[in-house]
Amino acid sequence: MHLSTHPAIELGTSFWMPKATSTLAPDVDWAFNIVLILCVIFFVGIVGAMLYFVAVYRRKNDDDKTSPVDHNAKIEFVWTVVPTVLVVWLFFVGFKGFMNATVAPAGAYEITVKAEKWNWTFTYPDGTVSPNFLAVPKGKPVKLIMSSTDVLHSFYVPEFRVKRDVIPGSYTTLWFEATEAKEVLLECAEYCGKGHSEMLGTVSVMEEDKFKEWLEAGGDLTSKGLSPVKKGEQLFTKWNCKTCHSVDGSAGTGPTLKGVFGSSVPLTDGTSVNADENYVRESILLSNAKIVRGFSPVMPIFKGTLKDKDVDALVAFIKEQK
Ligand code: CUA
Repeated sequence: MHLSTHPAIELGTSFWMPKATSTLAPDVDWAFNIVLILCVIFFVGIVGAMLYFVAVYRRKNDDDKTSPVDHNAKIEFVWTVVPTVLVVWLFFVGFKGFMNATVAPAGAYEITVKAEKWNWTFTYPDGTVSPNFLAVPKGKPVKLIMSSTDVLHSFYVPEFRVKRDVIPGSYTTLWFEATEAKEVLLECAEYCGKGHSEMLGTVSVMEEDKFKEWLEAGGDLTSKGLSPVKKGEQLFTKWNCKTCHSVDGSAGTGPTLKGVFGSSVPLTDGTSVNADENYVRESILLSNAKIVRGFSPVMPIFKGTLKDKDVDALVAFIKEQK
């Protein structure tokens, strides 16, 4: 089952990168392009001159003597000064862009980011929690305060040209201001284990009134009127549960959910437990409480993150996986 759909990469504005849709992106693209152009010019010039000299000044016979010319102050001056000026200039181009991208404007809207294998969890100032879906207002600077609960991850939004490592035991920050109301792809750009390539998310840039509406609805505009099973299915997708738990019977990082409800589950301590509502609830909220035989206690703890009605919906969904 693969329910999630992530935004497609949209091309444009830059030959190498997806369409630029943040205020930082034009500077990044410009710096990248100017470095690339200079590298191409110097590569062609240097290698071209080298090949030319190899052909023209090759030793043609045993009597061929090496030219006594060994010095030209003018040429040496030019090929020292020109690259030096270019490199110093490039340093300032990069430094300006780096400072701009590092220091968020005062008054930026702050969102807390937690990375863990293999989810992004976003917490808003009003307490709204949103998994793998970062809604932000268009045209407003947004500052992310990021940390990891396990290993190194990296927050990367190609269309915004922003990327920063997310580190356990420490905070890193990043900011951007989106210029277009659209959905763009969020990727993890640091190898973090088996589910790394699926540690994807959506950054949804909304007009400000739509963003307010989204926040007031508790970060969810789509689950209204859904049955508990459907809502559970939606949460199962939103929280990337499928990265570890299949619903088709195949084992992953965690046990499959197919046929688990109502069955007798063998545990690592040699006992077994009847998989009823309380067992499923406990296994979601305090995932380390009972470990299924043959698996490791690696699942994140969802106590304090999931609301009771979310757990109800997930239980209803898991009951349906017969
Ligand atoms: Cu998280 Cu790769």
